[in-house]
Amino acid sequence: MATSKASKVKLDPARIPAHIAIIMDGNGRWAKRRFLPRVAGHKQGMQNVKTITKAASRLGVKVLTLYAFSTENWKRPGSEVNYLMRLPVDFFNDFMPDLIKENVKVEVMGELDDLPPQTRQASEKAMADTANNTGMILNFALNYGGRDELVHAAQKLAKQVQEGELFPDDIDDRHFANALMTGFLGDLADPDLLIRTSGELRISNFLLWQIAYSELVFVDDYWPDFSPAALEAAIAEYQARDRRFGGLKNKTAIFW
Ligand code: FPP
Repeated sequence: MATSKASKVKLDPARIPAHIAIIMDGNGRWAKRRFLPRVAGHKQGMQNVKTITKAASRLGVKVLTLYAFSTENWKRPGSEVNYLMRLPVDFFNDFMPDLIKENVKVEVMGELDDLPPQTRQASEKAMADTANNTGMILNFALNYGGRDELVHAAQKLAKQVQEGELFPDDIDDRHFANALMTGFLGDLADPDLLIRTSGELRISNFLLWQIAYSELVFVDDYWPDFSPAALEAAIAEYQARDRRFGGLKNKTAIFW
């Protein structure tokens, strides 16, 4: 069930999720509620990316992956797509000094070759400008789709087999994980916590392989309203969960 419990919570600093992924949903409804055009919601959503990036970095999160544009979002009206493609350009222009100050390293994953040149160049410049930062990784999923990622990983592995670098029977979880777009994150590739805002209870083609054992938290806030206190509440919910990864908490338990 989707919840919104943004009152002050007490977090265990030793159990902050290392990787948080967020499906930032509800920009359009946020705008509609204010009788504003949808793009006003995306603009406010971009402002909130700044707020939540700083909050996550200060909490000690190691990777924050944000779903900024899916491979299916091209179906939206051209004017909205153009606006969404402009957002990374404005975001990196405005926010780069803060990202440097916060020691945040930017990564952008997705089908970057199919982005408009300006969007792609802004993304590449942001990655280059923050390449030496050693703090939190701010990982944008831009023109990203989970199925597209899996198909490309399968193609990559098939080519390695074709070139004699790999035997089909040797392909295991690790090979597959390395062939995904999150391969560069190594042990941090799988989100510990996945948050979706706006009350929708769907995954929407996001990180299909990586969320196998993620804790899922759905909150009612529209993305522009999702505050640092709401982030802390989601982390508190995560910390209250019992993560078993398919095993048992007490390995000696036989009957219960
Ligand atoms: C979903 O809300 C949101 C998006 C498709 C875009 C998300 C983008 C941002 C939050 C800004 C990204 C910022 C950078 C820096 C790249 P929706 O439009 O589907 O909302 P609705 O479901 O209420 O219509």
